[in-house]
Amino acid sequence: MKKLSERTAGFTDSVIRRMTRVSNQYGAINLSQGFPDFDPPGEITDRLKEVAGEGPHQYALTWGAQNFREALSEKQEHFYGMKVDPDKEIVITCGSTEAMMAAMMSVCNPGDKVVIFSPFYENYGADTILSGAEPVYVPLKPPAFGFDGDELENAVKQPGVKALILCNPSNPCGKVFTDEELNTIAELAIKYDIYVITDEVYEHIVYKPHVHRCIAMLPGMRERTIICNSLSKTYSITGWRLGFVMASPEIIDRVKKVHDFLTVGAAAPLMEAAVTGLRFGDSYYEGLREHYTHMRDLFTGGLENIGLQFTRPQGAYYVLVDISGFGYDSDLEFCEDLARKVGVGAVPGSSFFKEPENRYIRFHFAKQDATLNKALDRLSDIRSKMMR
Ligand SMILES: Cc1ncc(COP(=O)(O)O)c(C=O)c1O
Repeated sequence: MKKLSERTAGFTDSVIRRMTRVSNQYGAINLSQGFPDFDPPGEITDRLKEVAGEGPHQYALTWGAQNFREALSEKQEHFYGMKVDPDKEIVITCGSTEAMMAAMMSVCNPGDKVVIFSPFYENYGADTILSGAEPVYVPLKPPAFGFDGDELENAVKQPGVKALILCNPSNPCGKVFTDEELNTIAELAIKYDIYVITDEVYEHIVYKPHVHRCIAMLPGMRERTIICNSLSKTYSITGWRLGFVMASPEIIDRVKKVHDFLTVGAAAPLMEAAVTGLRFGDSYYEGLREHYTHMRDLFTGGLENIGLQFTRPQGAYYVLVDISGFGYDSDLEFCEDLARKVGVGAVPGSSFFKEPENRYIRFHFAKQDATLNKALDRLSDIRSKMMR
C-alpha cells in the first residue's frame, strides 16, 4: 500500500480526549474536556422542537441562513459598535473549529508563517499544518501570562509571517488581553502588514472587572482582522457546531469558497433554532457572566482552601494549577495518577505549551455545583495521595 499523507502523519491523538478516556477508566470526575454539563437555554431548545416539525431540513445558503447572519450582525453592533454587512462580511461555519480552518486556508500559502501565543488551544497546531503554514511561537509568561513586546515584534517581523492568531479570552490560561496589549498587537500587525485571526469563542465568559474588546475595532484593524467565533460556549450548545467568520468583503469572498468546499454549510434547522439565542437581550449575557463567575469562584475558592497555587482566570472556564511542589517530572504522569488515586481528571499543561513546561495541569469548571463540590472534596486530600 502507498503511504498515507505526509502532511497528517505527525498528528497525535488529542491529549484532552486521552484524559477523558483515562477519567472514564478510573471513574474520575472529568474536568479535562471543556464542555458544560448543564442544559442550553430552554427558549432555544423549545424552538428546536418547533423547527423539527416545520423545517428547514434542506441545505441553507452556503454562507448561512439570512436571518441568522442578520441577527449576528445586529448582535455584533450591539456589543462592539461594529457594523458588519450580513451579506458580504459573514460566513456561518460548522463551529469556530471550521471557521479557523477556513480562515487559515484563505490566508496562508504553504511556507507562510503564523505567529501563535503559547500556551495555545491545541487546534491551532493542526490548523497550521493543514494549511501548510509554519507556526512561530511567542511565550505568554506564567503566572500572569503577559508577553514581551520585543519578543512579539521579533516573531512578527520574521520573513514570511502572514498572520497572528489571537485567542482572547484565552484557553487554556484564562487571560483576557488588556487594551495596552491589544494596542501593541495591532501596531505590530499594521507595521508588518499581517492579518490577525481571532478566536473569540469565550467573548461572553469574562469576569469583572475585565472586559472583552474586539481587536477589529482598533484603528486600522478592521480590514486585517478575521474574527472566528461560535455559539458553542455562549449558549452552551457545543454539539450544534455553529460558528462564524467575520471579516472584510474581500476576505469573506474567499472564506465563502473555502467553506463551501469544506462543508457546504452549517446545519439549517440548528441555525433556525439558534437565532432565538442571538436575539436574547442583555440580561441573558449578564446571567451567563454571573453563572460562570459563580462557578469560577466556587472552584477556585475551593482550590485556595486546599492550598493549591493557580492563576486566577479573567475569562473562559479553565484554570491552570501549579503542581511543581508535588515532585513529579511529568505532568502527564501526574494527571494519570490524579485520575487513578484522587478521582479527578485534568489535562497536562505541557499539551498547550511550546516551551518545555511541566508545571501545570488544566481543570475546567463549566460544571454543576454538585460536580465541582464533589471534585473539590476528592482534591482535598491531594497532598497525602500525590506527594512524592
Ligand atoms: C479557544 C477555543 N476555540 C475554539 C473551540 C472550539 O469551538 P467550536 O465548538 O465552536 O468549534 C474551543 C473549544 O473548546 C476553544 O476552547
